[in-house]
Amino acid sequence: MLEDPGRRLDFRDVVGAFATGVTVVTTRIGTTYAGMTLNSFTSVSLDPLLVLISLAHGTRTLEMVRRCDRFAVNVLHRRQRDVALAFARPGAAFPEGHTVVDPAGYLVVMHSLAILRCQVFSIHAAGDHDLVVGEVVDFEGSGGEPLIFHRGAFGGLDADALVPRGRVIGLGGAGW
Ligand SMILES: Cc1cc2nc3c(=O)[nH]c(=O)nc-3n(C[C@H](O)[C@H](O)[C@H](O)COP(=O)(O)O)c2cc1C
Repeated sequence: MLEDPGRRLDFRDVVGAFATGVTVVTTRIGTTYAGMTLNSFTSVSLDPLLVLISLAHGTRTLEMVRRCDRFAVNVLHRRQRDVALAFARPGAAFPEGHTVVDPAGYLVVMHSLAILRCQVFSIHAAGDHDLVVGEVVDFEGSGGEPLIFHRGAFGGLDADALVPRGRVIGLGGAGW
């Protein structure tokens, strides 16, 4: 059933109440690069290490992830709003100056807060998106403040919501 445009807008307004971080998902085949801003990212499993991303049909990044089976999830820093905007322009040329190919061959975004290097584990059709489950083959992270997306706007966390560098939530494997 085709949802009417008004109902789709209402739906976006309502789900926009859910604040997220912001990532750029990057992938490459040789010297052909693709990457897109994405907030539909979640961790899924600890054994094996799995994450999930949701990519709209027709995006170049989904097309290339399907072909090459590898991608990186780059979690953006609060100061990387310009990067989020650069990778959210459908049909635009690949943004120069933000990425580098690392020694493992992954295309990654420089100065990211965290990077998860993934191998495609499974792909599931879901309406006008595909849910891509990635097995994390390598990951790294640094301290710092995340970029936040909420109700269609970028922002940052208030100071009292920040976990100081080095403090870990969920010690002893007891939870989050
Ligand atoms: C904050 C933000 C979050 C986004 N999250 C998603 C997402 O989760 N999935 C998606 O398919 N597109 C998402 N987009 C839209 C894509 O970034 C956009 O369509 C992009 O230009 C696709 O690029 P490509 O066709 O070069 O792959 C998001 C855009 C913004 C600004």
